[in-house]
Amino acid sequence: MQPRRLEEGDLEACATLFAQEFSAPPWSEPWTNERALARLEHFHASPGFVGMLALGDQGEVAGFLLGNLEPYVEGKLFYLREMCVATHRQGQGLGSELYRALERELATRDVRAVYLATGRGIPAARFYQQLGFRCSEGMAFYARGLKH
Ligand SMILES: CC(C)(COP(=O)(O)OP(=O)(O)OC[C@H]1O[C@@H](n2cnc3c(N)ncnc32)[C@H](O)[C@@H]1OP(=O)(O)O)[C@@H](O)C(=O)NCCC(=O)NCCS
Repeated sequence: MQPRRLEEGDLEACATLFAQEFSAPPWSEPWTNERALARLEHFHASPGFVGMLALGDQGEVAGFLLGNLEPYVEGKLFYLREMCVATHRQGQGLGSELYRALERELATRDVRAVYLATGRGIPAARFYQQLGFRCSEGMAFYARGLKH
């Protein structure tokens, strides 16, 4: 099915898929459906939200992506926050189709670039490179863990 816009009513089903995919290797993060829903709801409620969704034959979520537009020095940037395709549908072109649908959605909104953060050397990195993303030489992603 052709990707369509991701609406608020889709978030719960997307969260279930998200928790399933990111609990599995190579991520192996201990997501629950509730925590996943909280994360996706956060992006949905944030300014500039844009998401795309693809449904399978039975109406189940086959894959989705989402993120937020943000103003920049000129035009806007789109920060792609989450993307996943159901395991049994991976490698069949659905992720690329979702991404192309996103670019069509962004085409009329003066967006100068799409950016994202992901692990180096993981399978998804090759996926993004095939779509034309390049790992920035000039920029770095910094984080500092906090102890409580
Ligand atoms: C990453 C992901 C979204 C890609 O979606 P997909 O539907 O499997 O990707 P596509 O079938 O459109 O693949 C497009 C290209 O990327 C490459 N690619 C996709 N997944 C790949 C993988 N796991 N390993 C290596 N290359 C991969 C393919 O070689 C393909 O190129 P080809 O058409 O020349 O063969 C999907 O695999 C996924 O959800 N993975 C688990 C969650 C995840 O890692 N999300 C991204 C976190 S930032």
